[in-house]
Amino acid sequence: MQVNPKILKQKFEKSMPKYNENASVQREMAELLVNNLIKNAGQTFTQILELGSGTGLLTEFIADKLSYEHLTCNDIVEKSKSYLDKIVKNYTFIAGNSMKIKPSVHFDLIISNAMFQWFSSLPAALEYYSRMLNKNGVIAFSTFSGGNFNEIRSALGLSLDYLSVDGIKEALKKDFEPLELLAYTKTLDFASPLELLAHLKNTGVNSLSAKKMTFAEVKSFCDCIIENDGIAKLTYAPVIVIARKK
Ligand SMILES: C[S@@+](CC[C@H](N)C(=O)[O-])C[C@H]1O[C@@H](n2cnc3c(N)ncnc32)[C@H](O)[C@@H]1O
Repeated sequence: MQVNPKILKQKFEKSMPKYNENASVQREMAELLVNNLIKNAGQTFTQILELGSGTGLLTEFIADKLSYEHLTCNDIVEKSKSYLDKIVKNYTFIAGNSMKIKPSVHFDLIISNAMFQWFSSLPAALEYYSRMLNKNGVIAFSTFSGGNFNEIRSALGLSLDYLSVDGIKEALKKDFEPLELLAYTKTLDFASPLELLAHLKNTGVNSLSAKKMTFAEVKSFCDCIIENDGIAKLTYAPVIVIARKK
């Protein structure tokens, strides 16, 4: 399923006030991403570009654990800057679609947490960012693979076209040498299907559709997703990728 960038922008902007308290999986991914980056490529980079910085969950780990000369952050939502201003000083913020930005410098590290799944073509995105990297530059990103939100796909038939881990490897092949790919799953339990829907809204994941669900759709979703004990489950399938430009 393709995503309209206008809808994505609106939904993420709306989710920001409640994002941090709901995004436990994304916070864990951000920490794993930075730890795996350090393990495979060290912690010192001259110029860093962070894509899809949002409320700054990953930015906090970058500021705490990496050493750099200059950090540039980007998000399609301009309001991201007001969150980042509280986390980092002396950084550059570029507002706009990350597939259209034209930074004036090249980078040693391009890093992004829980955003690359929104690209309609991962190979095209990787080619675009490979041109922004210096020789031997590193790309470190987390995304989601097939199996992500299987429960939603079954109940609503609504899903992004997630790549498999092999599909991600294939996309890297042209411009990058993979240093590490780590895939895992994490299932969250919600006390009711409505709590699960609120979680999706508060993390911006409801960007797939502009329409509000009708009462009948909400009821059919609840009937479909609820388990015998009343609990509703949501499975995340994150992938952490560290790769070096060839
Ligand atoms: C799930 S949030 C992740 C935010 C943050 N990286 C974190 O670790 O929590 C995805 C972010 O990517 C941004 N985003 C999605 N597509 C984008 C694009 N094409 N260009 C720039 N930002 C984008 C959204 O606005 C949102 O802030």
